Amino acid sequence: MASFTFFGGKGGVGKTTVSAAFGLRCADAGQETLLVSTDPAHSTSDLFEQAFDDEPRPVEGYENLDAMEIDPEAEVEEHLSSIRREMAEQVSQVVVNEIDAQIEMAHNTPGAHEAALFDRLIRVMREEAEAYDRVVVDTAPTGNTLRLLSLPTFLGDWIDRLIEKREKSLDLYEMAALGGEEPHKSAADDPIVKRLRERKEKFEFAGKTLREDAEFYLVLNPDDLSVAETRRALERLGGHDLDVRGVVVNKVTPEPDPGEDGRGARYLRERCARERERIAEIEGSFPVPVVARIESRTGEVKGDVLRDVAAELAIDVGASASRAR
Ligand SMILES: Nc1ncnc2c1ncn2[C@@H]1O[C@H](COP(=O)(O)OP(=O)(O)O)[C@@H](O)[C@H]1O
Ligand SMILES: [Mg+2]
Repeated sequence: MASFTFFGGKGGVGKTTVSAAFGLRCADAGQETLLVSTDPAHSTSDLFEQAFDDEPRPVEGYENLDAMEIDPEAEVEEHLSSIRREMAEQVSQVVVNEIDAQIEMAHNTPGAHEAALFDRLIRVMREEAEAYDRVVVDTAPTGNTLRLLSLPTFLGDWIDRLIEKREKSLDLYEMAALGGEEPHKSAADDPIVKRLRERKEKFEFAGKTLREDAEFYLVLNPDDLSVAETRRALERLGGHDLDVRGVVVNKVTPEPDPGEDGRGARYLRERCARERERIAEIEGSFPVPVVARIESRTGEVKGDVLRDVAAELAIDVGASASRAR
């Protein structure tokens, strides 16, 4: 079973860049690594200048490194048609048509996107991950998605009560139909109960994997907004008993050389001083350490520059993500 490493954070802070750099580091250390992107902008494809899709493909020019991009739109579509298929088996076409518009509407909410993505991610955990030592996921699940992890407990009680009721009504139904013969139908085979059970098991599995085989990092930039956002995100993740290992401060302004004193150098020096204050604040008040400070590059982070960034990530790739319990 692979170890999972998630990189979360707001759009644009550098999640895709840092995830790719970390994936590269793991691959260079000899781990079979899968990089999973859930970014609709498909920036992993841009970064490696190669098209990726829903299936893992080798990243050209790198050893031990595969990548895949999950498309949220396609996942929502797939979700939608699977619900329609299942419904068509249970109820008449007339009913399907009547509630179709409502299902469609429900799928246009941001929550549906997250849920569909999470479903696909769970499939990665169950299936694709088998072939790898390390799975690096660009974009950690948000608070909304993580709430799904408390579903099994809730579903468990509910399913038990539901089965009890279904058993009773099935008994009555059969007694009426068979006139006293032993009933042979059981609520445990009921398609609705079966489906609920499957969902319960799925979320149980996801919760266990996220708590026991996954580590989380948040990426941020040294500005006030990003610091405040990250503080809140850390609280949410910590509240779910997840193993948050640290934060990566990306896009740190480089210091000018000591001899330089032009306007540009003075501007940079001022900026660097403010950023140092923010980083000190992070170090003093965040519940997790700063595991890397990555300087802003003038050009895009690709190729050799990506390798340099990978070298700056002081994240131990040797240690397995599995928590000693
Ligand atoms: N350290 C850096 N120096 C310069 N540019 C960077 C750095 N990190 C990220 N970028 C650039 O910033 C943009 C956003 O980065 P990206 O990794 O796609 O962010 P996210 O995935 O969080 O939206 C990209 O154009 C990327 O090349
Ligand atoms: Mg991205």
